[in-house]
Amino acid sequence: MPVITCVEDLKRIYKRRTPRMFYDYAESGSWTEQTFRENTTDFQEIHLRQRVAIDMAGRTTKSQMIGQDVSMPVALAPVGLTGMQSADGEIKAARAAEKFGVPYTLSTMSICSIEDVAENTSKPFWLQVYTLKDDDFMKRLFDRAKAAKCSAAVITVDLQMLGQRHKDLKNGLSAPPKLTFKSVTNMMTKVQWGLGMLGTKRRFFGNIVGHAKGVADASSLSTWTAEAFDVSLDWDRIREFRKMWDGPLIIKGIIDPRDALEALNVGADAIIVSNHGGRQLDGALSSIRALPAIMDAVGDKIEVHLDSGIRSGQDVLKALALGAKGTYIGRAYVYGLGAMGEAGVTKALELIHKELEVSMALCGRTDVTKVDRDILMIPRDFSDRWQ
Ligand code: GLV
Repeated sequence: MPVITCVEDLKRIYKRRTPRMFYDYAESGSWTEQTFRENTTDFQEIHLRQRVAIDMAGRTTKSQMIGQDVSMPVALAPVGLTGMQSADGEIKAARAAEKFGVPYTLSTMSICSIEDVAENTSKPFWLQVYTLKDDDFMKRLFDRAKAAKCSAAVITVDLQMLGQRHKDLKNGLSAPPKLTFKSVTNMMTKVQWGLGMLGTKRRFFGNIVGHAKGVADASSLSTWTAEAFDVSLDWDRIREFRKMWDGPLIIKGIIDPRDALEALNVGADAIIVSNHGGRQLDGALSSIRALPAIMDAVGDKIEVHLDSGIRSGQDVLKALALGAKGTYIGRAYVYGLGAMGEAGVTKALELIHKELEVSMALCGRTDVTKVDRDILMIPRDFSDRWQ
């Protein structure tokens, strides 16, 4: 086993060990993948201000997200089909998160169900909620989250329709995977993955199959999102969901300050600045570039979080310095999961934690809750380059 020193190392192992179909699912953006790429390259435009001879003892990365204690402000983002990256992947990721002291967000599009994850973990997790047309399903989904003692609901507002990801269509992405000559020959080379999958019954969309009515084909993501998702979603409908769920609420998928103001009116506890990892509107601004204007619009009124593009502790530090109270990693932990199961998720968290802690200290700061813009050097036109 090579020495693993960064998330990129996990990605290389992940790529070798995981069927192509699922690697491609995680590692792609929509259409030309411009936004997917800029989510990471825009972080590199921001520089960190090095300071020296400042007492670096007593460093802490402890903080809170929506009033809940976190060992560092980095939650695991909802990722669809996680249980296809590694058998029972959602349970493994949730366990790694709870041991590390960070929130785990279970996707509606997960393989393991809410109940599976609740039964196999001991701390509350968060549930990401997709807004389906089926009102009974939605009410039951929130009830199931309550029964499982989920400590927050994360409503995704940027996926009424699925942005096209070319590779998924070409690969015939589905859960469980369709057994074509191409997929079988590829899967046969992924022995550990295959043995894991043979050892679990969880190979379907666990929150949907047997729970949602009128979904004829719930194996292909593109078919069932097209059938079941609510194209007519609007802010009034989101306010109805607020009534169905009286616990902590986070609204995910905000890139424009006007939408941030709308989200304020819903009475959420936080918003997530996100373009869905570059998987929806190709050509949309990267999250880190969108963050400053959103902070100006609502930063003093609501807690602002950020996802999309975070692959390192330095990225986390930059987002926090621009005002985000919390961040999320998606692909960064999926690389670890596909590479080494639960231990790989823990590894990804450890790597990012160390990068965050050391880089913060080299900027002359010791408390993650107190980092501010002063540690950054930002191009003058970073957030208003385009009209
Ligand atoms: C689902 O949320 C996806 O982006 O595939």
